[in-house]
Amino acid sequence: MIIAANLKTNLTRKETSTYIEELESYIKAKNIFQEVLVFPATSSLNEHNGKVIIGAQNAYATKNGAFTGEIGLDHLDEFGIKTILIGHSERRHTLGETQEELVSKFNYYKELGFKIVYCVGEPLEKREAGKEVMMDYISTQYEGIDTEYKNLIIAYEPVWAIGTGLTPTLEDIEAIHTDLKGKSTAPLLYGGSVKVTNAKEVLELNNVDGVLVGSAALYAEHFCSMIQYAQEV
Ligand code: PGA
Repeated sequence: MIIAANLKTNLTRKETSTYIEELESYIKAKNIFQEVLVFPATSSLNEHNGKVIIGAQNAYATKNGAFTGEIGLDHLDEFGIKTILIGHSERRHTLGETQEELVSKFNYYKELGFKIVYCVGEPLEKREAGKEVMMDYISTQYEGIDTEYKNLIIAYEPVWAIGTGLTPTLEDIEAIHTDLKGKSTAPLLYGGSVKVTNAKEVLELNNVDGVLVGSAALYAEHFCSMIQYAQEV
């Protein structure tokens, strides 16, 4: 199982370092052998030696250069970071990243062998328009992406479920995951309002290979409980 925490614009560098140390202690104490990923805010990235894999929430498709406000490969290399999150709905919908831009980031970091967590998911109006419209929409998010890339992890995150406390039913998650597995054999995570109270049942579903957790992962204790569930599934 793969258990990932997207810390978004939360936790300072100091807080992040304490958070990661708490996870490391838990992993060691409980002999956890699941893959645990943490995506801190860009300014909280740091070198880390341990079981937890640290990834960037975003980076530009460049080594360096004139791209104000962005970071590039040099900045990730400085901390030995080889994992990146691409296509999160907040970047697609709030920050306006296009599929074309995401493909360019994907290809750039794929060439470098990065582990890529690539997010897909539909907004509410697409879901309400019926399964065909919804699946067609999600299919567009696979365009230009090498779905057989060996270091690819896909995260299905319905936009309307992110940070809202709403989730699809367990049957819906399983059905969509089963459909999406037809598009790529990469590990497939579910994300969107996963918390301590529902993580276990989500992790138990067929074709769910892990979870990507936002708000509920901000407390190391809660995230550790979810890591423990993954270990038990
Ligand atoms: P959430 O966020 O768990 O707060 O819904 C998930 C995500 O955005 O990856």
